[in-house]
Amino acid sequence: MAVGHGYSRHDDGVARQGTLPRPGLDPDRAVNGAGRTSGDRSVFLREFLRAPFTVGAVAPSGGPLADLVTTAVPREGSPLVVELGPGTGAFTEIIQRRLAGRGHHLAIEVNERFAERLAARYPQVEVAVADARALSETLAERGHHQADVIVSGLPWAAFTAERQGDLLAAITGALAPHGAFTTFAYTHTRWAGPARRLRRSLNLRFEEVVVSRTLWANLPPAFVYFCRRPRVPARPYAVAS
Ligand SMILES: C[S@@+](CC[C@H](N)C(=O)[O-])C[C@H]1O[C@@H](n2cnc3c(N)ncnc32)[C@H](O)[C@@H]1O
Repeated sequence: MAVGHGYSRHDDGVARQGTLPRPGLDPDRAVNGAGRTSGDRSVFLREFLRAPFTVGAVAPSGGPLADLVTTAVPREGSPLVVELGPGTGAFTEIIQRRLAGRGHHLAIEVNERFAERLAARYPQVEVAVADARALSETLAERGHHQADVIVSGLPWAAFTAERQGDLLAAITGALAPHGAFTTFAYTHTRWAGPARRLRRSLNLRFEEVVVSRTLWANLPPAFVYFCRRPRVPARPYAVAS
């Protein structure tokens, strides 16, 4: 499939930068639950096997997790909502329902195959094939300013300390002062090093961090971080240790 300028494929099989066309044809209309189709699970698993440390999960998120992680999307106004790591669109579907035609929804996905599927299914969503670490640049290239809400589907537990730090710096740098950032983590990873580091880093980078209850119905069980009031430092933070 033709993609726009600036696109290149790397060894791990994912795209790094690019612009997707926005076709009107939805190849897979049998959407259910949180925007999942019967094909989504197999696509997701296949992409996990190709790039486990980028995809970070074997299956898309379930409906209850998608409902909870998207609650920061306001029911009124015209917000710019940025979704990071949409995958097959579990959160995309619910964000679109909450926006109900208002505001703007930009989805940033590093995996070209996920991005193509997403752009075909949701022509009203602006899909960028890009690395979330270049968030501010991606916003600027596309004529956007700061995000009102950032919803992350990124697999934090699969990331190194350096990558986590770069991503969080990009997020706080692109979020409006009044903005909200939500992300999720799997309960079984809660006490592992990367998850504990993420929690410490969120506390360093946001004035308010609220942790949800555990959603036991999600496979695997997960919980959500609701973060507000980004602290944007004059110089980069050290990585939390
Ligand atoms: C755990 S999956 C979540 C997918 C979906 N949000 C869900 O919950 O079902 C993580 C997603 O983040 C994407 N991703 C990983 N690193 C990324 C990065 N640096 N920039 C953008 N997307 C990234 C992966 O390709 C994958 O689609």
